[in-house]
Formats: sequence, C-alpha cells, structure tokens
Amino acid sequence: MSGYPVSMQETIKKLEQTRSSRLGQDVPRLSFEGREKLLKECHPDYRKDSIRQISIGPNKGQKLTNKLVDLLEAKSYLDPEKVNLEQVDFDVDVLVIGGGGAGVSAAMIAHEQGANVLLATKLRIGDSNTIMAEGGIAAATQPDDSLERHFLDTIGGGRFENKRDLVSVLVNDAPLIVEWLKDLGCMFDTHPNGDLVVSFAGGHHRKRVHSCKDLSGMEFMRVVRDELYNKGVPVSEFSPAVELLMDEQGNCAGAVLLNLETEEFSVVRAKSVILATGGIGRLHPNDFPTTNHYGATADGLIIAYRGGANLLHMDAIQFHPTGAMWPEQMLGQLITEACRGNGAHLVNKNGEHFINELETRDTVSSAILREVIDRGNGIKTPTGGEGVWLDTPLINIRGDEGKLDRMFAGIVHRFTEYGIDVRKEPIMVFPTQHYQNGGIEIDPEARTSIPGLFAAGECSGGVQGRNRLGGNSLLDIFVFGHRGATSAVNYISSAKVGKLTLQHVREYHRELDAAGIKNKMASPLLLPDYIRDEVKKRRYS
Ligand code: FUM
Repeated sequence: MSGYPVSMQETIKKLEQTRSSRLGQDVPRLSFEGREKLLKECHPDYRKDSIRQISIGPNKGQKLTNKLVDLLEAKSYLDPEKVNLEQVDFDVDVLVIGGGGAGVSAAMIAHEQGANVLLATKLRIGDSNTIMAEGGIAAATQPDDSLERHFLDTIGGGRFENKRDLVSVLVNDAPLIVEWLKDLGCMFDTHPNGDLVVSFAGGHHRKRVHSCKDLSGMEFMRVVRDELYNKGVPVSEFSPAVELLMDEQGNCAGAVLLNLETEEFSVVRAKSVILATGGIGRLHPNDFPTTNHYGATADGLIIAYRGGANLLHMDAIQFHPTGAMWPEQMLGQLITEACRGNGAHLVNKNGEHFINELETRDTVSSAILREVIDRGNGIKTPTGGEGVWLDTPLINIRGDEGKLDRMFAGIVHRFTEYGIDVRKEPIMVFPTQHYQNGGIEIDPEARTSIPGLFAAGECSGGVQGRNRLGGNSLLDIFVFGHRGATSAVNYISSAKVGKLTLQHVREYHRELDAAGIKNKMASPLLLPDYIRDEVKKRRYS
C-alpha cells in the first residue's frame, strides 16, 4: 500500500513508465548562457521584492535580502544604558559564540593551543545546521582529482564571485580536515577494502563528497562535541550573545550574553571573539520553508554589523532543490543532494526528466520552480502544495539492492514513519531555503575587519561566492574553525583589552534615528516567532 494519496499515485505511474527510457539518456548540461537565463528568470534572488537597500551601516546603499534588512534596521535587543559593564561575569582569552561545527572546532583548537576559552551558545551544544547536514564533506582525496579542480568547481559554482584567497585555503586544507575527522573517530562510509566512499554533488566534476550515510553532520558533531567535553572546555548553553563589546580603541573585547532561562544579561570580557552563529534560514527568505535549525536567525550578522563589520553577498540565498514537500509534517526538510549524486532523477507530472541533476543548486532549484510555476508541470498535493518527483528507487536500480538502506538510512527511516517506502516510491520535493551564501567578510585567517573579531562557518562570507556547492559547508566550518582559533590565539599574545563599551550600539541607534527609520522590531531576533507571524498575517490579510 502506498503512503501517497490516490491523486498523487497517478503521476507515479507515469514516472514508472518513463524510467527505463530515462535510464538510457542523460539530460545535457546547460550552457553558461542557458544557466544565466534560467537563473534570471526563475531564481528567487531575482524576484523584485527579494532584496532591498539598507540605509545605514557598513553596507549602506547596497541591496541585501529583505528580512535581514528588517533586522539590521532595528534597534538592539538590549538598552545599552541598562547593562553594567563594570561587573564582569567571565574574563577569558577567547570567547567562541556558537555551538555548531565551526564553534565547537574553534573552541577545541584554541583550548589545545593553550587559550582560556569560553564557548557560549544559544541552545544546546550541537543544536545547529551542522548536526542536520546530510550529504557530507567535499575534499579532493582521490587519484583522479586535484586541489585545482576543486578550486575551479567551487569558483564556478559561486558564479565567479568567491574571494579566491579563501577558496584556495578551503580546498588546500580539505584533505587534512578529512584526515583530522577520521583520526578523531568519525565513521566515514567505506568500501569493503577500507577506501573512502566518495559521491558526486552538483557542480563538482569529480566524486569528492565523503559521507557518513546521510547523517554526516550528526556523526561529525557527535565526535567533535565529545572531544570538547573530554577536554573540559567551559560551555555556557542557552546563552545567546545579544551584542558584542568593544573597547575604547575599537577592538572587539567580548560580548553581552542573555540567559534564556532567567532573562539576565552577563558580561564576558574576552581578548578575542570568534563568531560561529550559523545561518539565516529561520527568517524564511522569500517565505520559503527551510532546512535550517530553529536557531538560525542571523544573530551573528546583526551584532557584527552593529560593530562595523562588512557583509558580503547577502543578496544571494541558497535554495536547496530537494526539500520534502510531502508528507506535510516534513515540509522543507532536507533530502540530501547525494540522492541525485547517486542517480535519482527529477521528474515532472508527465514523467519527464527535465534537468541534469548535477547542475549547481541554484540552477536545479530554478529548473524546478520553472517546471512547477511557469510550465504547470508540478504534481499537486491534496492540500494545495506542488512539487516534482525525486525518483529514489533509481538509486538501487543503478547501484545495488542495498544501496538506499546503506547510504540513505536516515531518509529511508523518516519516510517509513509515514508509510512511504522510498526504495519503491519516489519522494515529492520542492526548493527549500538551505544556506546563506554570504556573511561577515573574512580573510584567509578568518579575521574580520574588526580587530579581535574572527568569524567561521555559515555566518562568514566570501568563500562560497553567490552559490555554495554541496559538501563545501561541512568543509568550510572546520577549515575556518581551525584557522579562526589559531588566529585568535596569535592575536591574544599581544592584545590588551581596554575599558569595555557599548558605544557602537548607541551610535548605531543614533544613525537609525537620523535616517528616520522607525522599526518596531528588536534584534537579534534569537528565536523565530511563528505564532506572532500568524497573528500578524491574519490581522493584515
Ligand atoms: O544535500 C545535502 O546533503 C546538503 C549538503 C550541503 O549543504 O553541503
């Protein structure tokens, strides 16, 4: 018995009818011009209301994704007059803000290098986009691959806007990071002879994504979190940073944390700060569903911007082509690109295979949107949703009987819960917000433009250009987590923290007033407020 409603099952029959003919011929890749045309016509970044100009701060006059501008043009969550900076609650060398892969690895490495570290995080250690990552980590480890090929693919995927010095260190460090994870004890997928399994992802012209089933992020997080605990690095959970602290010389000198349980502020004086606060998905750019963790509300961008840090590419949002569209309980959840990398086709309601699955994510998402919205070729759900089929049974047909169970155990399990056997039936998908391609501008040592402030992982910007390739994020977090930690430790050898101040927040407020901006929001947002959003919608519709 199928877990799909009868109306949807009709189109599964069409998909099955075309399967053998589809197997014989691939959809050709698009030309450069064809790809650009498709993006301009269909990618959500190009919608008129997707971006708007920001009126204040380092990026003044530039266009950034709409919902981020709302938060950047809001006053602070805290009143700078009401925080007593004379009372210092924690005094450390390195404050790491964020409990995902970038933050945890940065804290571990800084601790190993002898620094006195505090890791503060909004929710629990590990509650992050890292733990939800499925596909794996990209690195040129195979004989038919090279650092140069990985570099070129990454730059091409980023639409040639990546900072090349950042890409260079990303791909150079990649094989070392895979070794580091293996040495720590991460259980990578291996062939019977012990060699690492590698898969394709869109835009990579070699198989270079190393996985731990479709639970790669969970496996990496399991191991690095354990290391952090074993090393005894102090951790403050449920304690988001609500502002950075500066000293009178304009150096970053700590942060104000909010205790989510008691709602009290605490003052952390730190010789250096590493921001690793992750992404933006829970702002729901363009009102798409998201794969992101509940805490992904752009907090690090907001507080760094108030401190004077430049943002890069924050008009370029990544929509992952294959978010779950059915069952509705799974709306927007990630269906890893590794399914396409291992042979699953994207198919419309007529059973047609309409795009080469190994195009980059921006391109594949745009092709799905064109198929559903412009061409009317989507499959409808009984509740008004629409999507296309991801023909997952092809993974076993093209590989072997056990491949889905072996490599996609998480997906098989999640759908079985809803009566859908993805070995026999396809998955209904639609693009979902997945990643912020840009962020706080860094250099190859993870330094921001503010002395003493470093950034790593999704909150940082420049390495991914306008569109990240699959597998380059689990890589980015560890490469720049390591580099940020080493830079911070070098920096503190000569750093002296002066008197702590929130003057930059006062000045930011004055700038908002001078620009006549009256925004009732307060930022950082910290947690999405879905209930209030619903009430607002009802009130204004
Ligand atoms: O599709 C995925 O598994 C996602 C991987 C990534 O974002 O790197």
